[in-house]
Amino acid sequence: MIDLKDISVTFTKEKDKEIHAVKDVNLHIQTGDVYGIVGYSGAGKSTLVRVINLLQRPTTGTVTIDGTELTSLKDKALREKRKEIGMIFQHFNLMNSRTIFENVAFSLKYSGKSKQERQQKVAELLNLVGIADKANSYPSQLSGGQKQRVAIARALANDPSILLCDEATSALDPKTTLQILSLLKDLNKKLGLTIILITHEMQVVKEICNKVAVMQAGKIIEKGSSIQVFSQPKQVLTRDFIRTATHIDQALETILSSKKFSLLADNEWLVELAYVGDQTNEPLIAQLYSRYQVTTNILYGNVEIIQDVPLGSLVVTLAGEENQRHQALKYLQKLGVYTNVLKYHQESAKVVMGGF
Ligand SMILES: Nc1ncnc2c1ncn2[C@@H]1O[C@H](COP(=O)(O)OP(=O)(O)O)[C@@H](O)[C@H]1O
Ligand SMILES: [Mg+2]
Repeated sequence: MIDLKDISVTFTKEKDKEIHAVKDVNLHIQTGDVYGIVGYSGAGKSTLVRVINLLQRPTTGTVTIDGTELTSLKDKALREKRKEIGMIFQHFNLMNSRTIFENVAFSLKYSGKSKQERQQKVAELLNLVGIADKANSYPSQLSGGQKQRVAIARALANDPSILLCDEATSALDPKTTLQILSLLKDLNKKLGLTIILITHEMQVVKEICNKVAVMQAGKIIEKGSSIQVFSQPKQVLTRDFIRTATHIDQALETILSSKKFSLLADNEWLVELAYVGDQTNEPLIAQLYSRYQVTTNILYGNVEIIQDVPLGSLVVTLAGEENQRHQALKYLQKLGVYTNVLKYHQESAKVVMGGF
């Protein structure tokens, strides 16, 4: 549905000073996708998403939507095509001197609809996003979550088939974030809306995206289905994002700061394990003992459900003969479990990723 081909965006600030905000990006987004684009601040996410509706013209490359190459359209045709693409932002961008109703109605100004049709459409939209009762309020009277609902209603005014979300939940608290994500998921299902979601939080991707791309320094360094990327991240940055999203970093910090851990015996390892799907049902820990006489002590456990597939992470200590511990680790790896022996340097109190 959306085809970004060899997209690069270069900003020239001063003479000789170029910023390569987006570099050689190729991305294919299908109808009905909720496509997450995740990366740290400055990675080029906003620039890339603005290229999709040509708010930002790419320096090189083409944008094709439903077979129409946007990059070759004249102004008028482009304006028409843009109606198929709605957009929402972190800071809502509502007009403070207008009511909620008027904010949404404003988007229908050039829709060719009669006044009555417009009124009816606004009422429908406010209903759809769950704030029909706020029609006559002003933005300042609404919470962040309610304001984002207004922004979503406004973005959907012209029945777009695509919704671009640039850090749409980044200014919201965790609970409100989940409510807005759930609304977006509903709209994706109910209206068949294709959603592109830019975020610096992997948690957001985890909640609703079926696909994800990871961006770093203007490039897409990894992409795929969410479950594939979450279960088998290839890049260090991707793994970093996932570790934060699954709270494993936080758990490790807690574990390492506890007295018990500093008493780790010579025959013990601290190990991080991650596994997907059916493996959750495998009696792994019992197997480690019966096969290798390695005892497992669970210090932290977490299961995330991503696209209906369970994804587990554990932090455990494995105790036993060194050779047996190596065997146990090999056994886990053979079953497709990701294993990472954490080496603890007492002096620097730092965890170093193991190399087994
Ligand atoms: N209009 C602009 N002019 C010059 N540089 C820009 C402009 N917009 C973005 N940049 C630069 O491009 C890079 C990527 O920015 P951006 O797309 O906003 O990243 P992100 O959304 O991932 O935080 C940054 O270095 C930023 O400073
Ligand atoms: Mg941004």
